[in-house]
Amino acid sequence: MRCDLIIRDATVFDGTGKTRYKADVGVTGDRIVAIGDLSASSGDREVLASGKALAPGFIDAHTHDDRAVLCGTECMLCKMSQGVTTVVVGNCGISLSPVRMKSRPVPPLDLLGDESWFAFDSFGAYAERLRKDPSPVNTYALIGHMSLRVEAMNGDTQRAATDKEAEQMRNRLADALAEGASGFSTGLYYPPNGMAPTQEVIAVAEALRAAGGIYVTHMRDEANDIMLSIEETLKIGRDTGSPVVISHHKCAMPENFGRSVETLPAIDRASLRQKVDFDVYPYPAGSTVLMPFRLRPDVKVQLTWSVPHPEMAGKMLSDIARGWNTSEREAAERLLPAGAIYFQMDEDDVQSIMAHRLSMIGSDGLPHDSYPHPRLWGTFPRVLGHYARDLGLFSLETAVRKMTGHTAEVFGMVDRGVIREGAYADLVLFDPATVKDASTYDAPTKVSEGIVETWVNGRSAYVYGQGATAERAGRLVTRNR
Ligand code: ZN
Ligand code: CU
Repeated sequence: MRCDLIIRDATVFDGTGKTRYKADVGVTGDRIVAIGDLSASSGDREVLASGKALAPGFIDAHTHDDRAVLCGTECMLCKMSQGVTTVVVGNCGISLSPVRMKSRPVPPLDLLGDESWFAFDSFGAYAERLRKDPSPVNTYALIGHMSLRVEAMNGDTQRAATDKEAEQMRNRLADALAEGASGFSTGLYYPPNGMAPTQEVIAVAEALRAAGGIYVTHMRDEANDIMLSIEETLKIGRDTGSPVVISHHKCAMPENFGRSVETLPAIDRASLRQKVDFDVYPYPAGSTVLMPFRLRPDVKVQLTWSVPHPEMAGKMLSDIARGWNTSEREAAERLLPAGAIYFQMDEDDVQSIMAHRLSMIGSDGLPHDSYPHPRLWGTFPRVLGHYARDLGLFSLETAVRKMTGHTAEVFGMVDRGVIREGAYADLVLFDPATVKDASTYDAPTKVSEGIVETWVNGRSAYVYGQGATAERAGRLVTRNR
């Protein structure tokens, strides 16, 4: 047999969690066509992978890459250099479509960019742009509640939506789902969206039922009231007949450290009755917009960007305040609009959450920050190297499953996230002995070590030492329903 590509003598991690095995893997076109001893076959290109691991391309379960997937290969280098081949966009209630904007979007919508980027009044228009000008990675899209609210409520979002406005949001969501979006996300934690009562969310999310969509949420509270928020999330799922994903599960703020012993068993019990999973990033610090009213003396804050003071990006807020001879609160007000890293979690919780059988790995990276949280460039190699290999938190097989097979199953991505004949050739070749994240809070945009090559739909997208190729083989991936 003749293949376009044969990767020989690789140690295959197939994405299901099954024990690694040695094989040659043949690719023709966009598919894996053969696995096993392919010594009788030849490939137009052959890669000798002795001692290296071959895994399905990683699926980043939680991203804010809505705009990054539209701006070419450079924008996605942070992901391809980690072995990521598919990104889930539209998380935390914020998506680039379906809304047009005339003035600067209210935080956190501005994490995606200024008003000039909100140029798609339908998901169909966004999908069309992706088709015409493809990304180097695959895109799987959610529609954000906040984007729907801004449009339906005409910018007047500091209140609950009326029944009529909720109905309009539901119709817009239904249209988007018909045009290739796969689910609905909320960010009820953020002030304007927090004005939405559970009933508003259920009224909008009702569109998921007929379309077989998924509900994904940055919950109302990840701190003191986290148990209530988990209940609310589960109820929204039950009342709309939808599977749910809890975003970046965490127990935030020092007084809640250790509470994963409550949250994980609760989610576990619920999973016996309804479909629920969660994503997590491998760091004890989060990142989002800077919110002066949420500052606390016992949570350190590092600035990631600022419109009036771009030169301060990367500095600790306490140092900025000292330099300006003012309080942190006052300094934060002066820096707005801005973004920040919050050191607000407990490492033991992060590990327990990551190790749980329902977890998926999602970076939650913010690609347009001038001094981003290191998770943007380091998440996947950090889980493989630091947590699986060095700390032994779980096997490499389990780590890969949390980035591939499990994620594809939860989101309903067909023929992705697994290495088997007939599946799409989304692949990553890495060195299990050296794979390691290189980005830190002080140097946040360093390319990871040990990721040898990344293929998207059979095309080479990234080669270590050379960077991104010119290929743009990514497609829109939609939920199987
Ligand atoms: Zn979030
Ligand atoms: Cu997020």
